[in-house]
Amino acid sequence: MSKSTCTVTINGKKIKANVGDTLIDAGLGGRLVLPHDCCSGQCESCRVRILEGQVDDLGTREKNTVLGCLAVLEGDAEISYDPVPLVKTTKGIVDSIRKIKEDYLEVRVKVFKTIPWLPGQYLRATFSGFPSRDYSPTTPLNLDAEEGYVVFHIKVYPNSIVSSKLGSEIRKGHSVKLRGPFGNAFLRRQPEPIVLTSTGTGFAPIWSIAVAANRGQPGREIRLVVGSRTRDGLYMRDAVRWLRNQGIPVTLTASDGDNETVMTARPYELLGNLSPDHIIYSAGAPSHVDATRELALQAGATFYADPFYVAEDSKSIFTLASTLIRKVKTPADTATVG
Ligand code: FES
Repeated sequence: MSKSTCTVTINGKKIKANVGDTLIDAGLGGRLVLPHDCCSGQCESCRVRILEGQVDDLGTREKNTVLGCLAVLEGDAEISYDPVPLVKTTKGIVDSIRKIKEDYLEVRVKVFKTIPWLPGQYLRATFSGFPSRDYSPTTPLNLDAEEGYVVFHIKVYPNSIVSSKLGSEIRKGHSVKLRGPFGNAFLRRQPEPIVLTSTGTGFAPIWSIAVAANRGQPGREIRLVVGSRTRDGLYMRDAVRWLRNQGIPVTLTASDGDNETVMTARPYELLGNLSPDHIIYSAGAPSHVDATRELALQAGATFYADPFYVAEDSKSIFTLASTLIRKVKTPADTATVG
């Protein structure tokens, strides 16, 4: 008869679990909460390392990591994960909404209590009276970060439920609830070279990682490839100037580029040589993230992703089929758009 219980060791703590438990459930059995969010294989928050043992990865394996919300125990195992700040809820108000470029806003929220996050993670923001949306807190484009404030880059989609109301129904002083942080694509202080790549407002987490890595690890090799559908979407010119002044190479690309200052290839085609030493962070459209993942895994590199999913709005799916919103938590959430 096969064994129905097993022992899983998580960050050094031994826990009795059932064969067939997901890694998250096994942790909960020992009062250990693995980082997680969607619990449906989409957000990557729960990615853990398998150090040894018997785990069915259910197709989620990347190098020695699996998704803890899907992978199940087949027997004794040892896993580990990088510690992240505890998930908290805090309240705040909109402090300012600044148009960075047509359809791109920098929204600054004054929080009543600090909410810790690591560069690359995301928060769930609920503007009072509106459905929640996930946004990556980021460094202001002019680097004037202030304690007690959280900054988001938000693309405005016409007729959308939340983003199109910013500046009209959602203005300075509007109440906001923030919950988080979530996500596994956060900066680790390793020595290896980093390749950062984004499309659209996927630049928000990528920019915060670049700034933190540059300031915290001045000698670390960094390069960026930043794409947008058109040049108008390259809203981050101030940030690019700062990065280049720090000696960090930045490649910009858009379908209407000039092949001089702005290239025309797809961003993943411009990543350059990748090796097993590289650590790659990718954020933005799922097609971009998937293509980058493929290249990273082929090269044996370490890969962290922050995909933004397509909204499926039952009322406006035809007009908003290409709308990208931040992560989708549950199937129910896919019924709303940014
Ligand atoms: S919690 Fe596992 S992928 Fe989101």
